[in-house]
Amino acid sequence: MSSVVRTVYVETYGCQMNVSDSELMLGKLAAEGYAPVDSPDGADVILVNTCAIRDHAEQRVIGRLGELKRSMKPGSIVGVTGCMAQRLGPRLLTQAKHVSLVVGPDGYRALPQLVARAQGGAREVATSFDLEEHYEDFAPRRFDKVKAWIPVQRGCDYKCTYCIVPYTRGPERSRKLADAVREAEQAVADGIAEITLLGQTVNSYHDGTHDFADLLRAVGAVPGLRRLRFTSPHPNDFSDRVIAAMAEVPAVCEHVHLPLQSGSTSVLKRMLRRYTREEYLDCVRRLRAAIPGLGLTTDVIVGFPGETDADFEETLSVVREVVFDDAYTFKFSPREGTPATRMPSELTVPDEVATERLERLIETVRTGSRARNLTLLGSRREVLVEKLARRGELLQTRSRDFKTVLIGGDESLIGRYVNVELTGTTGSTFTGSVVSDRGALPVAS
Ligand code: 5AD
Ligand code: SF4
Repeated sequence: MSSVVRTVYVETYGCQMNVSDSELMLGKLAAEGYAPVDSPDGADVILVNTCAIRDHAEQRVIGRLGELKRSMKPGSIVGVTGCMAQRLGPRLLTQAKHVSLVVGPDGYRALPQLVARAQGGAREVATSFDLEEHYEDFAPRRFDKVKAWIPVQRGCDYKCTYCIVPYTRGPERSRKLADAVREAEQAVADGIAEITLLGQTVNSYHDGTHDFADLLRAVGAVPGLRRLRFTSPHPNDFSDRVIAAMAEVPAVCEHVHLPLQSGSTSVLKRMLRRYTREEYLDCVRRLRAAIPGLGLTTDVIVGFPGETDADFEETLSVVREVVFDDAYTFKFSPREGTPATRMPSELTVPDEVATERLERLIETVRTGSRARNLTLLGSRREVLVEKLARRGELLQTRSRDFKTVLIGGDESLIGRYVNVELTGTTGSTFTGSVVSDRGALPVAS
């Protein structure tokens, strides 16, 4: 059946910032009359919003673009957006003849025009940075009814030597506090139960007048907002003001995702992380002293150029000392154009060594988190019911300290808060039982 309404499908790879950008793109195209659809089959416009952080992320996209080429209908427009679009630019048009649009993270305002021109046969690249761009007048089309991502900062100024993000997302800039608060108020009015503020180094937020502490206090004061999170912070930007705001604002959840990257000061130095092992540990101590019951998760890279066995042992010892609730662990992936790729080749860590370190790291993280989680059995938590669990009849919920808890119950609980007792654990996730119906509160209570 033919229809005059054109459809758009957006597929997202990478981090929450990309999810948020996809929501903005969908919102923009919906405002132009496009109907968002859940599948690329038959869609008039297919956008693949990509990640460039590791080679693996890019290979997945390359594979996916091949699939889309085989299944797209004649006349469809395929666009590549996001970090890989920014990184590869015109190379994507050369490599993938069915792609007609390549748009970087600061180019989404022009999407309707770019799409229209592509429909007329044009093939274009739009990868200029725009330091003023926060997409303020876009109304995001949110994928999730329960939780909202609110970007408060774009780009990154840290330039860690392994990282492609400063090149794909450009320099750091913060949104005005009042604009972030307005979006938070709108989200709560729309029934959103939890907000996560996003930025590449979100706690370095500064809009010229207000810092991240001000932002936490202002968003945390939005009436009806019960939970506020943020990701990802940089250890160096946890000022006393920020930690005090976290401790004092009731909505701010007791969880921090605090990327470690390495536990060895000499590796950290070559990564240009700008903190030592001791400074990282001190940051953890300050956060834990101020916020009882704090959940802590992290990111760690193994196999960075020059990482010795002794360096890696230092990483393991930080993991043992801190006892993270969870960790995202990665093998170093060289990214074209980053300083790490210019380090002497004799510093390269062989893949077998990196693989073995990754396995030991994962085991060390698991040993700690399993032991911690066993001590939590029998304790109680308020959880937000997020969605149906992937398997079985259970509901997936999340505690303030970022534990995943599966509970029984029907779909009507999605978007509500309930009190549970933790009754079992796999070592990483929990099962729980609801302890009091009176704890079940409507979303905007
Ligand atoms: N190789 C491996 N992991 C990386 N990360 C960032 N760049 C690289 C890279 N080149 C990891 C870091 C970061 C997370 C989002 O991805 O741990 O915190
Ligand atoms: Fe997000 Fe970084 Fe991947 Fe870009 S490269 S999508 S900023 S994780």
